Amino acid sequence: MYQVIARKYRPQKFADVVNQEHVKTTLENAIAQQRIAHGYIFSGQRGTGKTTLARILARCVNCIPKGPTNDPCGECASCREIAEGNAPDVIEIDAASNRGINEMRELRENVRYRPARDRYKVFIIDEAHQITSEAFNALLKTIEEPPAWVIFVLCTTEAHKIPATIASRCQHFSFRSVEFDEVVARMEWICRQEGIEADAETLAVLAQAGEGSIRDSLSALDQAIACCGTKLDAKQVRALLGTFSLDALGGVTDALAGADSARMLGLVDELERNGHNLQHFSRELTRFFRNLLVAKIAGSDTRLIAASPAERARLGEIAAAFSEEDLTRYLQLALDLFRDLQFSLQPRFHLEIGLVKLVYAGRLTSIEEALAGLEKPSSEISAPQRGDAETKTAKPAARTGPSPFELDRAKKAAARTEPQSIGATALAADPAPASVGVVDWRAKLHLALMEMGMTFTADAVEHSEITESGNVLQFVTPKELLLSMKPADLEKAARRASGRTYQIKVSAGEVRQAEPVAQPRQPDDVSQRALENPEVQRYREVFGGEIRTVRDLKG
Ligand SMILES: Nc1ncnc2c1ncn2[C@@H]1O[C@H](COP(=O)(O)OP(=O)(O)OP(=O)(O)O)[C@@H](O)[C@H]1O
Ligand SMILES: [Mg+2]
Ligand SMILES: [Zn+2]
Repeated sequence: MYQVIARKYRPQKFADVVNQEHVKTTLENAIAQQRIAHGYIFSGQRGTGKTTLARILARCVNCIPKGPTNDPCGECASCREIAEGNAPDVIEIDAASNRGINEMRELRENVRYRPARDRYKVFIIDEAHQITSEAFNALLKTIEEPPAWVIFVLCTTEAHKIPATIASRCQHFSFRSVEFDEVVARMEWICRQEGIEADAETLAVLAQAGEGSIRDSLSALDQAIACCGTKLDAKQVRALLGTFSLDALGGVTDALAGADSARMLGLVDELERNGHNLQHFSRELTRFFRNLLVAKIAGSDTRLIAASPAERARLGEIAAAFSEEDLTRYLQLALDLFRDLQFSLQPRFHLEIGLVKLVYAGRLTSIEEALAGLEKPSSEISAPQRGDAETKTAKPAARTGPSPFELDRAKKAAARTEPQSIGATALAADPAPASVGVVDWRAKLHLALMEMGMTFTADAVEHSEITESGNVLQFVTPKELLLSMKPADLEKAARRASGRTYQIKVSAGEVRQAEPVAQPRQPDDVSQRALENPEVQRYREVFGGEIRTVRDLKG
């Protein structure tokens, strides 16, 4: 009968357990000194040896000829039955499905009877955090003063969910996630036992897939063997697990180095045509940028990067071409992209936007510096400095206008500053500037309509002529835009913009293009104040923006 590798190679002695030295040593000492506690909590990431060590502990105390011992014989009935999971006195309870008060009362009863055959009754409670609080209460007394023959091991991935009353009566061990190199070594050894050929690259792919859980890596190994047979091929294994090689991911950094948005779109197209899962890709991309950033900060031979030595060296080379700042920004954007893609109905579009944004972020001449410059007099603002990227990578010459990304940031920064409670809500470079500072009906209504999500109407209003007389707003609109001018919506927008109710009249007609009829109207007080505000002036200078709308946040 076929047994999955993770179970077949479950360690049976302390020596075979990878990592978790602190747990092993403490337990070994306790056993040697016959000071075995009655309650243990084993907590930590899944697949790192909690159940395994609980069973080893049971074997050590119950081995018939030798126990309690640190070196169980492995042959007596007790040792064999524990390995197979059917020893009468080692009781494994899955708290995920037995979490209630009745189960715990039953357990309490069971605890009172002596072991059937062995020295100790060992209760291994998996997923212990799932036990309800009443059920925990029912256990409290038992765990506090258990009969001499009882050992509890509560295993959990979420230690903080074990009530303090229980935790304080137990010895607590946190299991560590297993280091990349150790997972690789363990898999290498298992492959040798199984007669499987796997090179370093393949083992690295499998080890990465587990993210520190040996069980997850071994499950991936099972899958790989089922797919490739006895000779594992890195490329096939990657395809199987949906992970990407550095060559594939390097396409992104190449495009970034060349500030090549077209290449980014090409990459997405290629991924899509080859049937790759775009969510997987974005996850891998995030990990890639994280590794690049770590390589940049800590050097590429750090153990913080879970990768083979060859891959680490390559990561180091790629990272050298970017500044720490760039990589931080890329990582942040990649994380955003990953999050967006989780729920996206249009993953392709999201990925395209996300990758193109990365290019913008690279072109960005450090918004932080530009903003820092705002605090200084303008003459001190020099050409922003770049990281060491500049010397190694050819970056395109400074662009002519700010990128949408920058504007977005500037907008947020501006909104945060709130100079004298005036939030400049829209600073935007517009190729056809309108009269600055005049808060007219057109702008007010446009904003209100945008806020109402009525973009078409907002657009039509932009192209209309508006006159106010008494409580009547008269619109003259080009014929082709009339359909978007519903009086009811305009009325709502006008009320939103002014707080007053207007009667709306719409008619078709010629609208004089370009500049709105130069209204000899005084710019109203707020916009005048905004214009005079030195900070606003600096934003306009630095970002080449204009003031479209001013809102008094006090009002
Ligand atoms: N530290 C380790 N050393 C060697 N093998 C391990 C180790 N941890 C896990 N394994 C392998 O993974 C399998 C599952 O381990 P185990 O059941 O002990 O994990 P766990 O920590 O109890 O996980 P879970 O929280 O999911 O119950 C084992 O059968 C073994 O093959
Ligand atoms: Mg377990
Ligand atoms: Zn034995």
